Amino acid sequence: MDKSIIINGEKYAIDVDNDMPLLWFLRDRLEKTGTKFGCGAGLCGACTVHVDGVATRSCVTPVGVLAGKSITTIEGLSDDGDHPLQKAWLENNVPQCGYCQAGQIMNAASLLNTNPTPSGNDIDNAMQGNICRCGTYQRIKKAIAQAAD
Ligand code: FES
Repeated sequence: MDKSIIINGEKYAIDVDNDMPLLWFLRDRLEKTGTKFGCGAGLCGACTVHVDGVATRSCVTPVGVLAGKSITTIEGLSDDGDHPLQKAWLENNVPQCGYCQAGQIMNAASLLNTNPTPSGNDIDNAMQGNICRCGTYQRIKKAIAQAAD
């Protein structure tokens, strides 16, 4: 069986315990630290990445089940930070402490992949599970709406 995984377009061997959460494979094994640890229990969204384009909480996803899958992290969302969401995030000065923002952007990108013109309610529903302790929710919503324009 192919025990490899594609991350941001590059193939990596899964050379760790199958049960290791993807989050720790990314951060500790591959030193891709853009994906953050918040709760470790699938509750906050800080660790959100895409698995075959779908927003997924990497803290509760064992790397072993991802063999053959394609993962995108915040480092791979765009070549040079020019994804429409990243530009809108900058223009709206969205982050405060910034810790949750990679997960926020990855979840928003997944929303726009499936719903390129979300309503305000669509944005609220899609983003409600991504927690921000600084309370940047209004700027997040504004930036997503702007990126969807
Ligand atoms: Fe994964 Fe909180 S760290 S959901």
